[in-house]
Amino acid sequence: MEYNKIICGDCIDVMRSFSDESIDLVITSPPYNLRNSTSGNFKKGSNNGTNRKLNFVSNLVNGYDTYDDNLPHEVYVRWQRECLREMLRLIKPDGAIFYNHKWRVQSGLMQDRQDIVNGFPVRQIIIWRRAGGVNFNDGYFVPTYEVIYLICKPQFKLLPTMNRYGDVWTFTQELNNKHPAPFPVNLVKRIISSTAAEIILDPFIGSGTTAVAAVQLKRKYIGIEISETYCKMANERIEQVKNSFIYSTIVEV
Ligand SMILES: C[S@@+](CC[C@H](N)C(=O)[O-])C[C@H]1O[C@@H](n2cnc3c(N)ncnc32)[C@H](O)[C@@H]1O
Repeated sequence: MEYNKIICGDCIDVMRSFSDESIDLVITSPPYNLRNSTSGNFKKGSNNGTNRKLNFVSNLVNGYDTYDDNLPHEVYVRWQRECLREMLRLIKPDGAIFYNHKWRVQSGLMQDRQDIVNGFPVRQIIIWRRAGGVNFNDGYFVPTYEVIYLICKPQFKLLPTMNRYGDVWTFTQELNNKHPAPFPVNLVKRIISSTAAEIILDPFIGSGTTAVAAVQLKRKYIGIEISETYCKMANERIEQVKNSFIYSTIVEV
């Protein structure tokens, strides 16, 4: 297996080509299937481009570059469970998967993502509290958090003292990134630096945030992404980070 590269392709096909127990840590945020929402309210999130927080929502309403995020719910759940099965096969006996998702209201009722994670070894749910949220529905309070499922094999352990972060993490949504749904780099860095993982996989790597954090923390990464545009974006970001390292080393010398 070659490390430190972004593979452009379908994540299930690519993951199937990897050997069992070859990965220490998976950190990922799949498409949330947001465009199959039962409510028109999400779509009202589009705006005239002047509000950066709302741009985040309207970008998502437009979908991703090549993937339109609009599967029938049952098909989406089957797909995500297949992705999780592959991730679980790939992690070592002390490995973990940090699987980010979002709960939402559908037809007036909360849709948590239990149907996706049911039967997988979920050890903890971390709340990722964002700086704010957007909601155009007066039937419920503005949602301000996403969840990160810690799904792990029995021998997984955090590094000593890292459990001090607790299970509610506050990170501001990344706004200076052209990808519609990027992770904050610092959130990924917190996960990686809480573990001894050497080889990190993100099967939905988008703009490459997981790789950027891995490079900054001197760990190995493998990223998979279906969109060539996002693969290019990821590779450019990774190069920038590597160059800034080389530059700081030259300056230090
Ligand atoms: C929520 S985004 C991930 C964003 C990423 N965490 C970041 O920081 O930029 C989900 C990504 O999955 C990609 N995607 C959708 N279907 C895919 C598939 N079958 N295989 C690989 N990537 C896929 C989308 O193009 C999108 O970039």
